[in-house]
Amino acid sequence: MEKLKIIGGERLSGELVVSGAKNAALPILAGSLLTSKIVSLKNIPQLNDIATMLTLLQSMGVKVLFDEKMNLQLDAASIDTFCAPYDLVKTMRASILVLGPLLSRFGQAKVSLPGGCAIGARPVNFHVQGLKAMGANISVADGYINASADKLHGAIIEFSKVSVTGTQNIMMAATLADGKTVIKNAAREPEVIDLANFLNNLGAKITDVGNDQITIIGVDSLQGSNYEILSDRIEAGTYLVAAAITRGKIKLKKINPNNLEAVILKLVEAGAIIEVGDDWISLDMQGKKPKSVDIKTLPHPGFPTDMQAQFCALNSVASGLAVVEETIFENRFQHINELHRMGASIEIDGKIAKIKGIKQLTAAPVMATDLRASAGLIIAALAAKGETIIDRIYHIDRGYERIEEKLNQLGASITRESG
Ligand code: UD1
Repeated sequence: MEKLKIIGGERLSGELVVSGAKNAALPILAGSLLTSKIVSLKNIPQLNDIATMLTLLQSMGVKVLFDEKMNLQLDAASIDTFCAPYDLVKTMRASILVLGPLLSRFGQAKVSLPGGCAIGARPVNFHVQGLKAMGANISVADGYINASADKLHGAIIEFSKVSVTGTQNIMMAATLADGKTVIKNAAREPEVIDLANFLNNLGAKITDVGNDQITIIGVDSLQGSNYEILSDRIEAGTYLVAAAITRGKIKLKKINPNNLEAVILKLVEAGAIIEVGDDWISLDMQGKKPKSVDIKTLPHPGFPTDMQAQFCALNSVASGLAVVEETIFENRFQHINELHRMGASIEIDGKIAKIKGIKQLTAAPVMATDLRASAGLIIAALAAKGETIIDRIYHIDRGYERIEEKLNQLGASITRESG
C-alpha cells in the first residue's frame, strides 16, 4: 500500500493552477447518460473517483475516449446495461448519480445501495423519495435499488435537509420528465450550478439554480455539448490552508474566488492577507503564526464540511482556542485521533471539537481515513517537526490530482513510497 513521507517545516511559496472539480465532474459524467449525442468535456481532473465513474459508464455501454489534450468524449448512444454494481458503488458513493439519468432516459435502473461510509451513515432516502414522487416504482432488494418507470413526470419535491447529490439526481431525472419539477430546499453548491449549466447546454430547461428553489421543465430529448468543468474550490482551499499553516505565500490560478467566500473569510480571520482577481487568489501569511478560528460547517454558501479537517489541522498550531462544529456529517472527526498522535490538543464532544493551539506538532505515523481527513493530515505534517508517514493514501488519490507533485512545486518535501 502506498504511503506519503512528509518532512515538515518548509514554508510554501509559489504558484499553482487549480484542477477541475471532482464534485462537478462526477455528476456531469453521470449526466452524459441523458443524451444519445456526443458530449465533450474539458478540465476533467485525473483522479481515482473519475476513473471509477468512467469504468461504471463503460460497463453500461458508454464509449469513452480521451484525446491528446486529455479532453474527454462520451458517447452514450447505445446503453445495454442499466446496473451500477456493488463493487463500484462501494468505492464511490457518487455512483448513485447514475440513478436519475438512467431512470429518466431508459425507464429502468438498478443501483447498489452505497452502504456504510467512513464519515457517517450517508443514506440515499432523499434520492429515492424524490424519484418516487416523479412516478418511479422503486423497491430495495438484496442490497440494490431497483427502479422503473414508464415515463417520469414532474413533481414538487421538498428536501427536509439540503443534499448535494440528492438535488443533482432529481435535477437530472427532471430534465427528461413530463412537465415541471420544482426542487425546494435545493443545494446551492457551485457544483450544482455547474451541472445545471452543463444540462442547459445540452438543451435542458433549468432555471433559478443557485437559489434554494430550482425549476426544471422537462424536454423530449437532449443534444450534444462541449463543456468545460468548473475548477475545484476544495482543492484550492486545501492549498490555501497548506500555505497558511507553513506561514507561506502562494497564488492559485484558474479559480473563481466567489466560490470560496466562506473559506477566504476564515483565512483572513486567521491572519492571512488575501488578494483576489477574476480567476485567481493569493494568500500571504507574512511569516506569521495563524490565529485560531471558530468553524461551523453548513450547506453552501456556508463553510464547507469538505474544508473542516484542513482547518482542524490549522487550528491545532494556531494561537488561541477554536471551536469547530460539524453539522453536516456525523463521525467526520476521524482525523482528530490522528492529529492527537502528532501532539494536537483537541477535545471532542459530539459534533464539537475544541482545539487548543500548541507551539508545534511532531511527526508520527498516521493513517488516512477518508478523503478530506487525509488532506488535513498532509497539512498537519507540512508544519510538524520531523518526518510524518501517512498510510492508506488511496483515499487522497480519490480526490486530489498529483498532490505531492503540486505541493513539492510550492517547496514542500513529500515523497510517495510503496509497500
Ligand atoms: C456531497 C459531496 C461531498 C460533500 C457533501 C456535503 C459529491 C460527490 N460529494 O456529498 O464531498 O461533503 O456533499 O457538502 O458531491 N442525507 C440524507 N439522505 C439522503 C441524502 C443525504 O439524510 O438521501 C444527509 C446526509 O447524511 C448528510 C446531509 O444529508 O447528513 C448532506 O449530505 P449530501 O449533501 O447528500 O452529501 P453528498 O451529496 O453525498
